[in-house]
Amino acid sequence: MTVKTMQSAEVKELLEKVAGFDMSGGNERMKKIVHRVMHDIFQIVEDFDVTPEEFWSAVYYVGELGANGEAALLAPGLGMDRYLDIRQDAEDEEAGLAGGTPRTIEGPLYVAGAPISDSFARMDDGSSKEAEVVLVKGQVTDESGAPLAHAVVDIWHADTKGAYSYFDQSQSEYNLRRRITTDAEGRYAAQSIMPSGYGCPPEGSTQKLLNHLGRHGQRPAHIHYFVSKPGYKHLTTQINIAGDKYTYDDFAFATREELVVAASHVEQSETAGQHGVTGPITEVEFNVTLVATDKPELQERHNRPRALETGTA
Ligand SMILES: [Fe+2]
Repeated sequence: MTVKTMQSAEVKELLEKVAGFDMSGGNERMKKIVHRVMHDIFQIVEDFDVTPEEFWSAVYYVGELGANGEAALLAPGLGMDRYLDIRQDAEDEEAGLAGGTPRTIEGPLYVAGAPISDSFARMDDGSSKEAEVVLVKGQVTDESGAPLAHAVVDIWHADTKGAYSYFDQSQSEYNLRRRITTDAEGRYAAQSIMPSGYGCPPEGSTQKLLNHLGRHGQRPAHIHYFVSKPGYKHLTTQINIAGDKYTYDDFAFATREELVVAASHVEQSETAGQHGVTGPITEVEFNVTLVATDKPELQERHNRPRALETGTA
């Protein structure tokens, strides 16, 4: 079929009615965006000669995606989260706020309200006996290298099976989730266990689409961070552990060169010793540079639905 109907008065009128252009109520921005979205979908149907069978399988796919709770998993897989970061980086550049530790995607697995402690925390509940013990440490500074005391370093990561507490109900409450405030020298440290990378559920909706694209749905081992302090731009980032098969092949496109961190085995870590942790341990060091800003809206994480977080959209 090669019919072209997009330029017809009938389709134009249909799209305007779909978007409520002839109605006085509603939200003007929403109307414009829905009009554009539907126009572009109609155009895709025309340009690719999408069959009714293909169209309806897509509609039911969206329903299944929602029922599986995978919409926020498919989004990074399709580069959306990375794209929003690219836009924010460009906005920072324009506003003279570039620099500091690079941001990267948050992902959908943050849980608000993790226990908070000064300068050091143990993040794991001790239940993973076989796990590799890790000391995550670093210093938070400003762009001149001056230490930032009382910055909040909010860390979360997966367990050895690639699962996150709260979403994985078999883990204890807030397992592998902690907030640590930096000491007078801007330092933080956490004892934890080495996370495993993980993949999209093999039978899930996200992997189903990735299969059609010839793509895997795997992420390397990584550790998520929010770092904040009044007067500085809120940082959302994560580190990828070097040497993972997927370090540079993350399905969610979160890897950035400056965020790849080596894990090194030491017989006794000086930092761990200062916090009473003795014996062989794997050290992961991640230093953070925050960028000063007087704009309050940039000092906090943006609103989005997050587990156990109140006051978000
Ligand atoms: Fe993650």
